[in-house]
Amino acid sequence: MSTPRSRAFSGIQPTADSLHLGNFLGALVNWVSFQDRFECVYSVVDLHSLTVGPDPAAIRDRTRRTAAQMLAAGIDPARSILFVQSHVPQHAELTWLLNCVTGFGEASRMTQFKDKSSKQGAEGTTVGLFDYPILMAADILLYDAAIVPVGEDQRQHLELSRDLAARLNARYGEGTAIVPEPYIVPATAKIQDLQDPAAKMSKSGRPGGILELMDPPKVLAKRIKAAVTDGETEIRYDPAAKPGVSNLLTIYSALSGRPVEQIVEEYRGKMCGHLKADLADVVVEAFTPVREKTEGYLADPAQLDAILADGAARASQIATRVHARIADRFGLLPRGETGRRGADG
Ligand code: TRP
Repeated sequence: MSTPRSRAFSGIQPTADSLHLGNFLGALVNWVSFQDRFECVYSVVDLHSLTVGPDPAAIRDRTRRTAAQMLAAGIDPARSILFVQSHVPQHAELTWLLNCVTGFGEASRMTQFKDKSSKQGAEGTTVGLFDYPILMAADILLYDAAIVPVGEDQRQHLELSRDLAARLNARYGEGTAIVPEPYIVPATAKIQDLQDPAAKMSKSGRPGGILELMDPPKVLAKRIKAAVTDGETEIRYDPAAKPGVSNLLTIYSALSGRPVEQIVEEYRGKMCGHLKADLADVVVEAFTPVREKTEGYLADPAQLDAILADGAARASQIATRVHARIADRFGLLPRGETGRRGADG
């Protein structure tokens, strides 16, 4: 007997040509393993990336590249739904409904918005950026997702999604929305910048600070070789005193599946250069198959688009039904056949 599995939802913005090691270990690896335990819905959230105004050619290209890398990393379209957010119009529609139950003050307290908008100034900040967390809540609630794997930096946004879901249930009756649980990625998957090990690995970090999935082996090896460590030769795991070396050990452990202590033991008395050379091999071995598969998907954009169209069709079935249910509770009239079926379901 099989009971229906709970649904997981997560999204990634198409803001880079390549995912980096931080995205790979922090998000993708978890998403892939979630497929064994949940009914997974994963989205390339292109509408979110519009909040920072990338140029149209870049967003088009990066949307495909991001999807291709997800497939290459093991997101399986036969088991999971992989789709592009803008292909399912209910994301934008539910955002409007949620906008109307979100306090202006509540949205103003989102720290990511405060940080970004204070850097850009009020005139340089779009209303879209302000609304970003509400769109994210819509993404999640639209699929009745029970669990949402995200990085620590999304914790506050998840809290808002939970508050909004609970508010809908209080205002419009139980069963209007499912209150999602965050799944915050474990600390072992926290990868720091190679050039500034005090900071999280990120696209906006130091030049040379990231390892990208699509980098050729030579570039990966060069970056690892140039990674900042400290003056003393001893290789030990101590993130406070030796953040650079500890970060290399974390990466080694995460990609090889071996415990950090075992790796430390192996390199006792050896030079940091040894560790770096071997780590470069480990990274190249992990990335190469993903890069090659990604290149395969990108060589056939029609096939890739077909996979995404199929994902959007399956996502739409859920999103149409859930949106209709919520819209009905708000008092909006059903939309003919589709709306009525949804509201009943
Ligand atoms: N804001 C998320 C991030 O930057 C991306 C995202 C958009 C997301 N919608 C989501 C994550 C829904 C989880 C669920 O990482």
